Amino acid sequence: MRFVFVFALLFVGCLSSPEWWEDATFYQIYPRSFVDSDGDGVGDLKGISSKLEYLKEIGVTATWLSPIFKSPMADFGYDVSNFFEIDPIFGTMADFDELIEKSKEVGVKIILDFVPNHSSDECEYFEKSVESDPEYKDFYVWHPGKLIDGIRHPPSNWVSVFGGSTWTWNEKRQEYYLHQFLAKQPDFNFRNPKVRENFKAILKFWLDKGVYGFRIDAVPHIFEKLNEDGSWPDEPRNDWNNDPQSYDYLDHIYTKDQHETLDVMYEWRAFMDSYKNDNGGETRVILAEAYSPIEILDQYFSNSTHSGSQIPFNFGLMSLSGYSTAKDVENSVTYWMDVMWKKHKVANWVLGNHDNPRIYDRFGAHKIDVVNILLSSLPGTTVTYYGEELGMHNVKTECTEVSCDDRDGERTPMQWNDKLSGGFSTNPNPWLPLADDYKVNNVKNQRKTARSSFNIYKSLQKLKRTEAFKNFKDDSSWAYGALTEQIFHVKRSSSKDGYLILINMGDKIETYNFPENFFKPGIKDLEYHVVTERSSHYSGEKFQITNKLHLLPFEAVVMKWETPVV
Ligand code: NOJ
Ligand code: MG
Repeated sequence: MRFVFVFALLFVGCLSSPEWWEDATFYQIYPRSFVDSDGDGVGDLKGISSKLEYLKEIGVTATWLSPIFKSPMADFGYDVSNFFEIDPIFGTMADFDELIEKSKEVGVKIILDFVPNHSSDECEYFEKSVESDPEYKDFYVWHPGKLIDGIRHPPSNWVSVFGGSTWTWNEKRQEYYLHQFLAKQPDFNFRNPKVRENFKAILKFWLDKGVYGFRIDAVPHIFEKLNEDGSWPDEPRNDWNNDPQSYDYLDHIYTKDQHETLDVMYEWRAFMDSYKNDNGGETRVILAEAYSPIEILDQYFSNSTHSGSQIPFNFGLMSLSGYSTAKDVENSVTYWMDVMWKKHKVANWVLGNHDNPRIYDRFGAHKIDVVNILLSSLPGTTVTYYGEELGMHNVKTECTEVSCDDRDGERTPMQWNDKLSGGFSTNPNPWLPLADDYKVNNVKNQRKTARSSFNIYKSLQKLKRTEAFKNFKDDSSWAYGALTEQIFHVKRSSSKDGYLILINMGDKIETYNFPENFFKPGIKDLEYHVVTERSSHYSGEKFQITNKLHLLPFEAVVMKWETPVV
């Protein structure tokens, strides 16, 4: 009898204490742009080390660093030339070891970017593959092409993500190689077991150094469909695009989300789990970058026999805009929850990254807090791109010798203070210019401004650590949805207290009367807890639930109640 009781307790215990990553706050750092410690105008590892306390201060659990490995920087590190080395622009291996050591002291986990789909064409593996070195000959995807009327053509009609053919002719090897991104990023051949082994060795190398997991780049692109005769099938046209150089020209049924990719994902997860079993410590995680439909993300998470990425990024909220209504938000949230929560009890919410314009530019300056509050209110993991806690905006950048990328605008230096280069660097000319508002809009100023986006962000992270938010695995502890066309709400509660998050998505004053059964019996009033600069209320102000509620345009508030003891 006592055993049954103990087991029951253990079971409830499991339910109520999620694993660290399940409601973690992940923070993406673009290392080139966070802090430059040596004055060369480019951010580096020592710079990141110096700001770990900052991450702790704002409530970050783990930080994901965009690639820091040796690279000729054709795609700013997403073209790796040595997977086991740190690029000198970011520092040395000793700097990395120091970063890990310090991260453990401070209590912020380090997650690295893992780029398995391709390497740089300056990677030794590729150079040896070009030479047909027996060990590396089949490390990449090579094909002699098709001879039509004596003229050589690429093996298929495929178009790369960045435009133009995925196939580039190599004079030396006298064959085409495949690249789903730039010609300087040849795709690995994951049908070659040696490639698979090599990548496990890479994972192990960095796990041994003490990282807590990886963000895996470009997951859907890892495999392409191969015909039995060794040829590659043409993809069908999209009739809505007439530019043969454009990625959207074709429907990517053979170059995205192939079923073999799932096997590799499960293999990596098994590797990470066995690493944990052998070495102890907390769970190591895989965050997977896949702009894929929910049914596919579901499979990257698991199938009936295997587990994969714990956090297949949910980019759903990123397709919302400044015009989105509360109903649109509800639909976007439900798209995920209906599949992933119902089946696996996991959720993650992403609102930005280095490939997409900032929240300011997608939603508007007036919606920074609205969006950050939405992100942190929902149950599960959140992912914040650096600078979004300040509401940084995109910068119109000019092409320079260093960079000419249409994503430069969202990669500008972090705005720390109003000094030279915003405190990012002692160099007056950082690799990308600072946004023009850095003298006003920076960490130093926002820290001392009561309702700044920075302080709102910080209080949201505190909220995520309250009992009402922590017991999210219990479905009855949360609810969400559109109360009206423009008011979105999230409710989070424990047996003791609860929070009601109300967000006015629209530009008009909204009013609302709570229906009788909206709150648990006995709750009579609420207290404003987090208020933004759009609000006429103050923290600590009371609200009687029988009163009519008013929300100003774009106002978002967190209200708190205490469950009466009966
Ligand atoms: C996705 C990364 O986020 C992006 O920055 C990069 O260009 C491509 N993958 C290719 O690695
Ligand atoms: Mg530097």
